[in-house]
Amino acid sequence: MLFYIKSTIKTINLIKFATIIKTGGIVAFPTETVYGLGANAFNPIAVQKIYDAKRRPADNPLIVHLADITWLDIVANKLTDLEIKLFKTFSPGPLTLLIPKNNNIPNIVTAGSKLVGVRIPNHKIAIDFIHLSGVPIAAPSANISGKPSATHHKHVINAFGNSIPVIKGGASKYGVESTVVKVENDKIIYILRQGAISKEDIKQAFPNVKIKIAGDEISSIKASPGTRYRHYAPKAKIIIVPYTQVKQMAEEINNILNSINPKEKIALFCSKELIRLLKNKKKKIVYNIGSLQNAKEALSKLYSNLIDSDNQNIDLIITHLYPDTGSGLTYNERIYRAGGK
Ligand code: TXA
Ligand code: MG
Repeated sequence: MLFYIKSTIKTINLIKFATIIKTGGIVAFPTETVYGLGANAFNPIAVQKIYDAKRRPADNPLIVHLADITWLDIVANKLTDLEIKLFKTFSPGPLTLLIPKNNNIPNIVTAGSKLVGVRIPNHKIAIDFIHLSGVPIAAPSANISGKPSATHHKHVINAFGNSIPVIKGGASKYGVESTVVKVENDKIIYILRQGAISKEDIKQAFPNVKIKIAGDEISSIKASPGTRYRHYAPKAKIIIVPYTQVKQMAEEINNILNSINPKEKIALFCSKELIRLLKNKKKKIVYNIGSLQNAKEALSKLYSNLIDSDNQNIDLIITHLYPDTGSGLTYNERIYRAGGK
């Protein structure tokens, strides 16, 4: 199958990539969230190649990508009513649902857990690629473990060189990973990893269901294993300015700029409202991350800005938080983790 990207004459031979999957190899592919590094989810030897290439800890399970909802039956046992409703509401899309796996899914995919995370990407190339491969595709984000996730095929090539075949699909729409959720007792939805779908998005679709963020309270539900590691980490240190009034945040950043070693290479990840109020921007690399009202935009640019700062050998990144709601909550969580907290 030849897939046409927009109106350009570039074509992608997806059959070539599907054949690599069928013969036990690994392929990086675009999705609407971030790029995935995929293998046949039924083939433990192929899946091991992902862990090796990423240098991923063996206790961090992989998400299984399906071509459509009818594929649930080939990876999982029966779902509850709420699980089905939840999955149907947000699929195809950036929602990963944890459900009991069946015996087709080898333990290496789930790192020994009885639950498997499944999602259907909302991305034409990804779906066609999975269909042509004919099997569910286990895939983590296509980055070296601990580094920012790839949101463009150039980032994948940057990280892995030519050692891994890459389906070149340009920039990812969301630029942040899927939201990982689990339903408890057919009653409560737990968010085990925050992502492109916010708690508020789920609340809007399920106003009568309790929704909790796992790991941030005294609860028996733990956040996803992947959230335990330092993640999204650039080479630079990060200074994080708390979210307050615009003027106050600008003043704080101006003070920081006045006090730091002038030899350090500085990047500013700042909203446009703040950039206007900054006084000492000379020789600083300024990344405009959009409006303070639009945390979603800031989040979508975060990984590519982090990767770019690495490539520019930045020593110090100065950024600010967003209000702790919707995509702002996720932006703040990712910034803290990128900064090593
Ligand atoms: O958007 C995404 O989710 C991307 C694209 C490629 O689909 N994938 C992705 O995969 O971000 P990865 O491996 O970078 O992150 C998967 C997260 C990890 O935090 C992992 O611990 C969690 O999901 N996870 C996967 N399977 C799980 C399971 N069975 N139980 C608990 N957590 C699980
Ligand atoms: Mg990842």
